Amino acid sequence: MEQYAIKGGNPLVGEVEIGGAKNAALPILAASVMTDETVYIENMPDVRDTNVLLSAMENIGVIVKRTDRHKVTLNASNISELVVEDENIKKIRASYYLIGALLGKYKHAEVALPGGCDIGCRAIDQHIKGFRALGADVKIEHGLIKTQAEHLRGSHIYMDVVSVGATINIMMAAVMAEGTTIIENSAKEPHVVDLANFLNSMGANIKGAGTDVIRIKGVSHLHGTEYAVIPDQIEAGTFMFAAAVTKGDVTVIPKHLESITAKLLEIGCEVEEADDCIRVVASKPLQHTQVKTLPYPGFPTDMQPQITVALGLSKGTSIVTESIFENRFKYVDELTRMGANIKVESNIAIINGVTRYTGARVNAPDLRAGAALVIAGLVAEGITVIDDIYFIERGYEEFDQKLRGIGAQIEKVSDEKEIQKFILKVS
Ligand code: EPZ
Repeated sequence: MEQYAIKGGNPLVGEVEIGGAKNAALPILAASVMTDETVYIENMPDVRDTNVLLSAMENIGVIVKRTDRHKVTLNASNISELVVEDENIKKIRASYYLIGALLGKYKHAEVALPGGCDIGCRAIDQHIKGFRALGADVKIEHGLIKTQAEHLRGSHIYMDVVSVGATINIMMAAVMAEGTTIIENSAKEPHVVDLANFLNSMGANIKGAGTDVIRIKGVSHLHGTEYAVIPDQIEAGTFMFAAAVTKGDVTVIPKHLESITAKLLEIGCEVEEADDCIRVVASKPLQHTQVKTLPYPGFPTDMQPQITVALGLSKGTSIVTESIFENRFKYVDELTRMGANIKVESNIAIINGVTRYTGARVNAPDLRAGAALVIAGLVAEGITVIDDIYFIERGYEEFDQKLRGIGAQIEKVSDEKEIQKFILKVS
């Protein structure tokens, strides 16, 4: 298995280009099966999750043409199969977006139960509630979610929890239903808005995406479209916190989430915003603060490991409350091996800042925690080796190359010999 070898100590300096948002690209790719016409998507991130979804779509008969790493043309007019049980598909969370898309278009779908980062129970009851409200039968059998409907009729659906995935899946199932669907207490994340914009560019009639009430007037037909995926704010935020932790000076192109800027300012970074980029300068010692992850526009749960790494080196005691997932502090054990002083009690981390991290051999437990451990390695004294970087590559394209581009000493290695070679090279 491949690993990252990192020598800490270099401040990150320079500009980094942010790719398309993984969590917007995944539902947009799935939704492209809802038309028989050709769909052209650009600014798609070339990461494992999007590639796994594309190959599962090819396996059910979607014609996929990669014009380049970030551009893809899709035509789903000859779909041969409404059962998606591709082995890989179980490994990614977004596989379940094919349910909403195929149900919405064909009134039938059978998709393997989703996988994804092990950060909590990852329930799907709200998805099922929405599909049933629209008139679909839903059952779980032999590891598949099976849905079908004579007719899909608009409904007034009140979400019991704010769920990005359920909001997206119900939106796709409703977009060609008879009548109007109202989703109350819907997720407002930028990627929910991006999917609504994509569907509207295909002829859908969706209003209110980005607020907590989304109205969808069913249409009979969706046509082809050309669409560019929004930039990935979590990738941007990850590099911004890497700049903060390494006392660097990094410009991220294009921009990111306001809530991330607010926290960087609170811990003592300087942040300069321009029209299409943002610069983070971290010259002063980091200060403690309090953070609670919340649905958008609150501080994103996908940035929780990254800010915890920064607060682990901040003066004083900080508190991080994870209100979205029930098991998203697993990485703290790994960070402790690097010298962090953090106590986790249920969904709260009490962080006593230390003066330094030291390099160690650690494992990435999931996508964002893996990226956060890389950030810790970039500032730790000595060498850090991170295992299971498979998780990181699910959502970060060319992560080590982009970090090297702004001064990091990081390389992908695959065995002890290559690790020793890296150590010789950097010492
Ligand atoms: C999406 O996951 C993202 N994944 C996650 O990003 C992100 O952390 C999460 O949204 C929150 O922003 C993708 O977009 C592929 P939820 P999702 O449904 O849709 C509970 C990353 O790092 N819930 O908003 O699975 C659920 O258990 C990944 O890129 C139910 O109870 O998240 C959780 O506690 C990690 N019933 C909360 O809601 C349901 O039916 C939020 O989950 C659905 C969710």
